[in-house]
Amino acid sequence: MKVTIVGAGNVGATCADVIAYRGIASEVVLLDIKEGFAEGKAMDIMQCATTTGFNTRVIGSTNDYTKTANSDVVVITSGIPRKPGMTREELIGINAGIVKSVADNVLRHSPEAIIVVVSNPMDTMTYLTLKATGLPKHRVIGMGGALDSSRFKYFLSQALEKPGNDVQGMVIGGHGDKTMIPLTRIASYNGSPVSQFLSQDVLDKVAADTMVGGATLTGLLGTSAWYAPGASVAYLVDSILNDQRKMIPCSVMLDGEYGQSDICIGVPCIIGRKGLVEIVDVNLDDKEKDLFAKSADAVRNMNADLQSVLA
Ligand SMILES: NC(=O)c1ccc[n+]([C@@H]2O[C@H](COP(=O)([O-])OP(=O)(O)OC[C@H]3O[C@@H](n4cnc5c(N)ncnc54)[C@H](O)[C@@H]3O)[C@@H](O)[C@H]2O)c1
Repeated sequence: MKVTIVGAGNVGATCADVIAYRGIASEVVLLDIKEGFAEGKAMDIMQCATTTGFNTRVIGSTNDYTKTANSDVVVITSGIPRKPGMTREELIGINAGIVKSVADNVLRHSPEAIIVVVSNPMDTMTYLTLKATGLPKHRVIGMGGALDSSRFKYFLSQALEKPGNDVQGMVIGGHGDKTMIPLTRIASYNGSPVSQFLSQDVLDKVAADTMVGGATLTGLLGTSAWYAPGASVAYLVDSILNDQRKMIPCSVMLDGEYGQSDICIGVPCIIGRKGLVEIVDVNLDDKEKDLFAKSADAVRNMNADLQSVLA
């Protein structure tokens, strides 16, 4: 099975690395516009094969989309980060242009591929990809909730002083520090509600830390994080390629689910070989429904900046 990752930067290359280590796909193509960059990243990853023992073939390409032909999954991580003085509209305009042309190029060579959108602002870029390509909604999936949920589970496990793998929890809503919704009410420690072990004050702090999780790392690293983002994309790709049907919060087009339509935003999804298999209704309470509606308003507001790109 073949995966293409467009954008061989921090997140794209880490994702390729995790896919190779874990043998999730037989072939990974890393593509970037920077001359020689993807080839270099691919060669560096391949030089781990004999010491770590993987058989995945990772190749790099400088903007040659013929090498991506017949990919089962295409991950889009290409884009630029917001620079000082740049308005949100300017960033959306630049990244929208990149994501749109990348989607056109990959579909020309892999017309059946499932597309995973990572570039920010991710919910808006996912919406753009769907609208610009006309693909059915099950084939365009935005990755953000998997990462936000892994950060949520990390902060819960730290508060509980227990291993992360014993903690279950999800973050839904927009992939932004003001729009995401950590669902503390239904988070659990091996099946028991976390509220049995943690006070409301601690749970509120866990939720707040989760929401600024990306910004905290950007402050520490000087650029946005890549290990957990890359691993989260690989986790999603695994569920697609191997038809695992895991429940993963993803940004997908809603047609009335969670009271919303014509928007891509994070909701719990079953992810399998065809991409989005099903959206799961987790019965939000009134407070969570209210937060979700406000989150959708904020995402819709951002989507409005796409008008000139989609015109
Ligand atoms: N959804 C999420 O959870 C999440 C998490 C982390 C980062 N991100 C986003 O992912 C994107 C990538 O982040 P990063 O840290 O890897 O950035 P990065 O700058 O390290 O990598 C981006 C790469 O994209 C390449 N690129 C730019 N335009 C291109 C084009 N037209 N075709 C091919 N390649 C192109 C650049 O040359 C660069 O190598 C950013 O938009 C970032 O905000 C999203």
